[in-house]
Amino acid sequence: MNGPAVNALEIIRDIYNVDQLLSGKEYIRELVKRLAQKLKVKFVMVGHDVEGKGTSVQTDYLFADGKFVDNVVYELEGTPCTKVLCGTRVNCYSAKVQDQFPNDQMLKDLEVESYMGAPFLHTNGGLLGLLVIMDDRPLEDLDLATAVVEFFAARIGAEYRRLDAEESLRRSNEDLEKLVDTRTKQLISQEKLATIGRITLGIAHELKNPLNIIINGTELLQDSDISEQDRARTQTMIHQHGLRANEIITSMLKQARQEVHTTEEWADVSRLLKHAFDVFFKSLNDIELKLKLIKKISITTEVKAQLFDVPAIERVFINVIDNAVYALAEKLQKNKSGYTPELQIELSFKNSRCQIRVRDNGIGIPSDQLKRVCDEFYTTKPPGDGIGLGLWVAKQNIEKNRGSLKIDSRENEYTEVVIELPAVRRDAEVEVSI
Ligand SMILES: Nc1ncnc2c1ncn2[C@@H]1O[C@H](COP(=O)(O)OP(=O)(O)OP(=O)(O)O)[C@@H](O)[C@H]1O
Ligand SMILES: [Mg+2]
Repeated sequence: MNGPAVNALEIIRDIYNVDQLLSGKEYIRELVKRLAQKLKVKFVMVGHDVEGKGTSVQTDYLFADGKFVDNVVYELEGTPCTKVLCGTRVNCYSAKVQDQFPNDQMLKDLEVESYMGAPFLHTNGGLLGLLVIMDDRPLEDLDLATAVVEFFAARIGAEYRRLDAEESLRRSNEDLEKLVDTRTKQLISQEKLATIGRITLGIAHELKNPLNIIINGTELLQDSDISEQDRARTQTMIHQHGLRANEIITSMLKQARQEVHTTEEWADVSRLLKHAFDVFFKSLNDIELKLKLIKKISITTEVKAQLFDVPAIERVFINVIDNAVYALAEKLQKNKSGYTPELQIELSFKNSRCQIRVRDNGIGIPSDQLKRVCDEFYTTKPPGDGIGLGLWVAKQNIEKNRGSLKIDSRENEYTEVVIELPAVRRDAEVEVSI
């Protein structure tokens, strides 16, 4: 009784001791070959149930007479394999197997005398495939063969399941990659559309000011009472702002093509700020506000700064003044008497930085909205009055020039925008060498 058990264990160990580097199909191939050699049988076969129907088997490894031969598909009916695939354990015909399956042509062709097969299962218990050994002589040591076949059927089954899992993982990875690819393409096209939309809105936003000036100017020219001096001045203004609109489009298109300004130039911040205010105030057509407004302009310090995009900075000043005047006009609408709109613009210089302060006593910003005002497309204005890009663009332009933009406000009391830029005093310009 001890004899066969020890033998089976030794044989199992011998077969099992396959090169550690082998895996998957190569590993099963090696097991099949060793099974034939160690059990001294002529045929070893491993196959799987075709389409899980239990009617036919496709061999995946067919070892005959010391070598692997071409795989075959065979119908199960009338073969000993039917019995194997019906059960869950080893099925054995130790001799004269052909007598029991007279219609099995393969048994005849191969002159098979003995047969032993064991199924292996899916994790869900369904049949996956089978391991079969056959010989042209009766099987002698049945206990040994049973132990070995049962063990390796289970081992080969595990390898089949692993290969299956790998395959479905590979497939789902492929599906996932395809999905990611499609989604990425969708995102890229959405992003492109969003960029086009942003550029369009950006152009619209930037063009609004010069266009307003041009429109107001032409209306003024239609007035027959206008003096010759004012007519000439207005015509110059219209021309200047037409050029300016053109310049804006060119610079926005450059930005869209990523041709951002990479060279800096010296700019007179005091002049830029004064000019921005003049331009804005001249184009202001709210007569009531124009009359009541108290302007406290203090641009005494003459400073210069090295700027990447001078027209963009001037537009920042115009946008900030525009916001302030809008807030003043809003408040004036609500308080016809007892309210004096006030606008303060101040330029100062300290510690190699200039500071531009624009303060209004308009409607102010509610404290819970304050952190949102520089967000892209944040606006409280009706369509036509604002897009919500002014401060967003302003902050970006200022930061591109190593500066900062901060806003402080109290609802119904004031709003103060403070812009800082690295700068030098005009008289110190000669001392600077960069
Ligand atoms: N001085 C201010 N007083 C009160 N609210 C302000 C002031 N400046 C900005 N805001 C608030 O911040 C919002 C965003 O301003 P921003 O300049 O970015 O856009 P906008 O003025 O609404 O539109 P756009 O500038 O694109 O024409 C404004 O809609 C307004 O609610
Ligand atoms: Mg604005």
